[in-house]
Amino acid sequence: MKSPTTDSKPIYLPSDAIQKRAYIASLDEYLEIYNASIKDPVKFWEKIATDFFWKTKPAGPFLNYNFDLNKGNIFIKWMEGATTNICYNLVDKTIQDGYGDKIAYYWEGNEPGEQKQITYQALLKAICKCANVLKGLGIKKGDRVAIYMPNTIEAIVAMLSCARIGAVHVVVFAGFSANALAERIIAAQAKLLITADGTFRGTKFIALKSIATQALMQCKGAGHPVSHCIMLKHLHTTQQIPEIPWDDAIDCAWERLMASASEVCAPEWVDGEDPLFILYTSGSTGKPKGVLHTTGGYLLYTATVFKYVFDYHPEDIFFCSGDLGWITGHTFNVYGALACKSTSVVFDGIPTYPDGGRFWDLIDRYKVTTFYTAPTAIRTLMQLPVSYVTKYSRASLRILGSVGEPIDPSSWRWFYEVVGSSRCPIIDTFWQTETGAPIICPLPGSTPLKPGSATLPFWGIVATIVDEDGIEIIGRGKGHLVIKNPWPGMARTIDGDHQRFQATYFEPYHGYYYTGDGAQRDADGYFWITGRTDDMLNCSGHLISTAEIESVLMQHPSVAEAAAVSALHAIKGESIHCFIVLKQEQLYNEIMESEIKSIIRNQIGAFAVPDLIQPVPALPKVGSGKIMRRLLRKIVRQEGHLGDTSTLVDPNSIDQLRGLILNKAKML
Ligand code: WT7
Repeated sequence: MKSPTTDSKPIYLPSDAIQKRAYIASLDEYLEIYNASIKDPVKFWEKIATDFFWKTKPAGPFLNYNFDLNKGNIFIKWMEGATTNICYNLVDKTIQDGYGDKIAYYWEGNEPGEQKQITYQALLKAICKCANVLKGLGIKKGDRVAIYMPNTIEAIVAMLSCARIGAVHVVVFAGFSANALAERIIAAQAKLLITADGTFRGTKFIALKSIATQALMQCKGAGHPVSHCIMLKHLHTTQQIPEIPWDDAIDCAWERLMASASEVCAPEWVDGEDPLFILYTSGSTGKPKGVLHTTGGYLLYTATVFKYVFDYHPEDIFFCSGDLGWITGHTFNVYGALACKSTSVVFDGIPTYPDGGRFWDLIDRYKVTTFYTAPTAIRTLMQLPVSYVTKYSRASLRILGSVGEPIDPSSWRWFYEVVGSSRCPIIDTFWQTETGAPIICPLPGSTPLKPGSATLPFWGIVATIVDEDGIEIIGRGKGHLVIKNPWPGMARTIDGDHQRFQATYFEPYHGYYYTGDGAQRDADGYFWITGRTDDMLNCSGHLISTAEIESVLMQHPSVAEAAAVSALHAIKGESIHCFIVLKQEQLYNEIMESEIKSIIRNQIGAFAVPDLIQPVPALPKVGSGKIMRRLLRKIVRQEGHLGDTSTLVDPNSIDQLRGLILNKAKML
């Protein structure tokens, strides 16, 4: 239902059908709970904690923190001294509550018809077996286990088996290269790796085990040998694939180990503040950051968000198209979902294979009520004939969600009108690997929607905007998005580098958690995320730092200097454009271009390969030698006004750069 607007933008009010079933059915109710959650966060979260099992209560205060570097080191502790086990809460407790025969997951592979399903009861058995396998291989509480697997039930089993024994999982997205995998295994000091033989993404084969073997050789070379590599057989025998490397000294078959493992494994009781997992995300120095989440707070926050943000009821079927290798998969395919006793669909394919109707086919077949995806997927699918969507009924859908980057109003409307037949609210969820779960987002039954706005803060989150000097902007305005207070699901540190944690998130604006995003707040208090304001780019929902790409570009022997910036892209949101200065007497040609692209593919992964590599005589720099990326970004985006260029060493070089880019743009 569309109604007039308050801020010159159309508002979509929750429909009667959605409100009738919603836990929170009016804006006033949301506000009342919001205000209570802010006024007394401890009371608010303490009550939610009673929904879960705690072996012992917190020894000291429920919340203890310092958010202001002026007052000393940053720390955030929720329920320190309380003991629990998150796997026990998600699985054992759900079975005890009578849901043992409920389907926890429907799994669908890359090929249509490749299907599996698992009940809570069967999930528990698999987790216990896997936990016993890990214990048998010497994994103990606090040890790190790397997981490099396709989007499968087994990957979820692997994650939860770590949680069961107090080990810390480090999932590495299966699109990362051997180098990137090795870097993360070494950084996390992982003792063991779990992988699979390989997987298909559409028609593309990914040789996971070969990549894993290469990575493990690098780890060994760097003085960090991994004790075991467990390989799941994921591929069917009929598929033609290259030979799989195998070394009896470290490689073990998942199936063989699982077959002989016991189905019983008592949970390890861990502290509320013990680490649950590390997940690497890009950092502006080029070295990935190991974002560390802990147990108790993450459980409370992900469970609460899943329940209210998706208005999840036990009969709903949830489908998140995100990969387990990203925080979306951790929070919504695993932890938040199981904490709400959900049934979810896990999909190991791509939206356009075998054709552009795959998502809608899945939605009809599994009777999905809640579908959560990314703007980049929406933009890909909206380019295709609408018949791919309309061929399917999508009648089961109630709620649609979006995550990963700002969703532009026209994609929002297509998602709303075409996919949801104007029945389903679009829940645009703003969050980050570091925030654990959404922090700004609507609630289906209560928040009037404005296409393109992530709307209002979730309970317990005091979001605001500050100007360049860190002065809070009151009311309407535009600035840096910051959070004033701790919430249970936030990251506690960067693994092994607390200084970097403080410097990245708390140094820029004292007293606030800094998101790195810009935002506008309108007269209704709605937030409109305008994108990263740091040296980070967001390509198809993958956050990549310009420094990371630049350091890889510099590895090519002919490259003397490099700068990477983001251009706007109709489908990916942002695409990567690189400027390089060649060493003397080097000539740029197609061979060099493909060499550079393959270095990036090998060092980071295919998703980071630039759309454009532009050799230039010089990069625009200020007197101190700093590259003016802001200027390059404006040039590739063909923005007319470049702002102040007076600090440039050679302001005339700009016209030359513009000319080169305009010529290239005509050719692309
Ligand atoms: C960055 C975090 C959160 C899971 C996936 C990404 C951007 C994320 C939105 C949104 C506008 C968004 C931000 C953020 N982002 N969701 N709904 N609207 N921007 O996790 O890799 O840690 O990236 O993604 O720029 O800082 P991530």
